[in-house]
Amino acid sequence: MRQIATALIGTLLIGSTSSAKGLAPATPQMLELGKSLYATNCLACHGEKGDGNGPAGKMMKPKPREFASADFKNGATPEGIFKSISEGLPGTAMAPFAKKLSDEERTSLAHYVLKLRGK
Ligand code: HEC
Repeated sequence: MRQIATALIGTLLIGSTSSAKGLAPATPQMLELGKSLYATNCLACHGEKGDGNGPAGKMMKPKPREFASADFKNGATPEGIFKSISEGLPGTAMAPFAKKLSDEERTSLAHYVLKLRGK
């Protein structure tokens, strides 16, 4: 019985550390990864500087988000941006990337978006 309880507590602990509670911190390597992933996956819509004026984004409604904007539906925090990148924004051109990119890759993108945001 005690073994089962220990196993359960272990699972709970692992579960809580790998949840979206806190993302890995932004290191220079992380930001480099984010930058290159951004160029291939996001730039066409959001633009090189994240101003929402990428070549594919010009005709979109709603327009791709300008990252300097205060208006982030999921919050302009690493966790909120990670959520938007993972799940997308239903009803817009912003697609979910959870299946396409790993947790680490999406984390690096969340940090890179904040860097483009200039905060
Ligand atoms: C096909 C075009 C397209 C691509 C590619 C795209 N986005 Fe978006 N993105 C959008 C649009 C459109 C919105 C605005 C949706 C809205 O106004 O609700 C958006 C919104 C966002 C937001 C704001 C989220 C919020 O909480 O409001 C973030 C952050 C974001 N995108 C990041 C990214 C990142 C990072 C990538 C690359 C992995 C990416 N996007 C790829 C079109 C795109």
